Amino acid sequence: MSAPNKSYDPVEVEALKPEEIERMRDEALAAFAAAGDLDALAHAKTAHAGGTSPLALANREIGALPPQAKAEAGKRVGQARGAVNKAYAQRLAQLEAERDERVLVEEAVDVTLPYDRVPAGARHPLTTLMDRVADIFVGMGYEVAEGPEVEAEWFNFDALNFTPDHPARQMQDTFFVRGAQADRSTAGDESGVVLRTHTSPVQARALLERREPPVYIVCPGRVYRTDELDATHTPVFHQVELLAVDKGLTMADLKGTIDHMVKELFGEDTTTRLRPHFFPFTEPSAEMDMQCYVCRGASVGNPDRPCRTCSSEGWIELGGCGMVNPKVLTACGVDPEVYSGFAFGFGIERMLMFRHNVEDMRDMVEGDVRFTRPFGMEI
Ligand code: PHE
Repeated sequence: MSAPNKSYDPVEVEALKPEEIERMRDEALAAFAAAGDLDALAHAKTAHAGGTSPLALANREIGALPPQAKAEAGKRVGQARGAVNKAYAQRLAQLEAERDERVLVEEAVDVTLPYDRVPAGARHPLTTLMDRVADIFVGMGYEVAEGPEVEAEWFNFDALNFTPDHPARQMQDTFFVRGAQADRSTAGDESGVVLRTHTSPVQARALLERREPPVYIVCPGRVYRTDELDATHTPVFHQVELLAVDKGLTMADLKGTIDHMVKELFGEDTTTRLRPHFFPFTEPSAEMDMQCYVCRGASVGNPDRPCRTCSSEGWIELGGCGMVNPKVLTACGVDPEVYSGFAFGFGIERMLMFRHNVEDMRDMVEGDVRFTRPFGMEI
């Protein structure tokens, strides 16, 4: 800062002379105009409008002037600084607009361009649902067990107390495998080998393999029946089977286990019920239903609120269940006086249908990614 100005004339202070101030202002305006981008403008701003710029320094000189000279000098410097700030703001707006326009052009995405990445694969929703169900039981201490899809008739039927004339054995339900050694003209269905019609033969295998209970197994797998492929049937489908054999197991354990699975899959407030039924390998037997998780029963007898998921029945049929028939335990070398067990089995296709509103079972077997993709990348 200069020494006090004896002449009291602001014009006499070098830094406050009108032509000096004008020069500073013009230099600033020229520098802003010359700044080609926002970086250059920021530098120009520091040099010409910052705290150590010539105009800022001139402004400080005003303080050293006598009172009567301050007004004129202040006005001159103030006007110059005002002009500089205005020019800066204008140039800034101009450069920002240019940048935005450039970014819009440079970073434009053509959403119509063909997709050039190979999409990551995902597992089929039937597989993930089966795994999800198995995981519930693994979390309870069950082991996953598997058996062959080409199965001995004995495991598929005899060990499970199907009488030789049981209708399920007949050709309309069961795929019989022609024996390799058999005379093709006559042997046909006498090979004793079938494509398993359910996952229940794994029950017999598990009991025979382990000898001594406790046995707690969950068996997911593919099964076969001679159905035509249509909206609600497929000749190849999937089941999950559960078997528990231990001392003192009762129907209450069965009910509690079904309840737990259904709550895990459909929510805490989903209830289940058992209806008396017949299976050769369980006694007593039941069919298990879960309360419709969409309408929760509200559609029953209420034409104003029809429910497509349960056909306004309020309940959805899940599958079969029961206490393992003592004859099965005996056939598999387990003493029914000491042990009891429960089992249930149900179809995964059906569950996928009502859990995800799939209307046509054929969509599950056609391998079209447009069907599987909405289920996501679950692994
Ligand atoms: N295996 C039976 C079926 O396919 C279901 C079932 C499993 C029933 C276990 C009772 C016990 O229909």
